[in-house]
Amino acid sequence: MNRPENVSLSSTMSLSPSQIRRLAAAARRAARSSYAPYSEFRVGAAVLTASGKIFSGCNVENASSGLTICAERTAVFTAVAAGQRRLVAVAVYTPTPRPTAPCGACRQVIHEFGPTATVLCVCDSPDRIEISLDQLLPKAFGPKDLR
Ligand code: THU
Repeated sequence: MNRPENVSLSSTMSLSPSQIRRLAAAARRAARSSYAPYSEFRVGAAVLTASGKIFSGCNVENASSGLTICAERTAVFTAVAAGQRRLVAVAVYTPTPRPTAPCGACRQVIHEFGPTATVLCVCDSPDRIEISLDQLLPKAFGPKDLR
């Protein structure tokens, strides 16, 4: 569904089936660009922002392994670099038979811009996880703690 540009989405609204489909499809598509020569674990992610736009990302590994970045953070940082700071939902695709939830570092980064965002985890089977970020990262440290 195309929403008019001036309608802003809220993370407390539940996602429509078509938004879920579009977001999951974007996450799956993004995994094709994954650079994962070391783990061969090709992950894709997509974020839906309050303005209704979708930004995607993939994991990018590095020979110096600590510098690897997850798909979720690539997608979030791409949205923020485009001026979008309110995340309504985040989808992650992993090439696994069961859905897997974002790692702790990614949960913290998602929290910064979408403390109540819906997190949708999809995989190579119809199994999926749909959960709120505040359930994945309860009692999170965030911007409010620095005020
Ligand atoms: N990875 C992600 O991109 N997202 C996750 O949620 C889990 C892990 C990546 C990091 C690394 O490139 C590979 O998967 C194996 O950990």
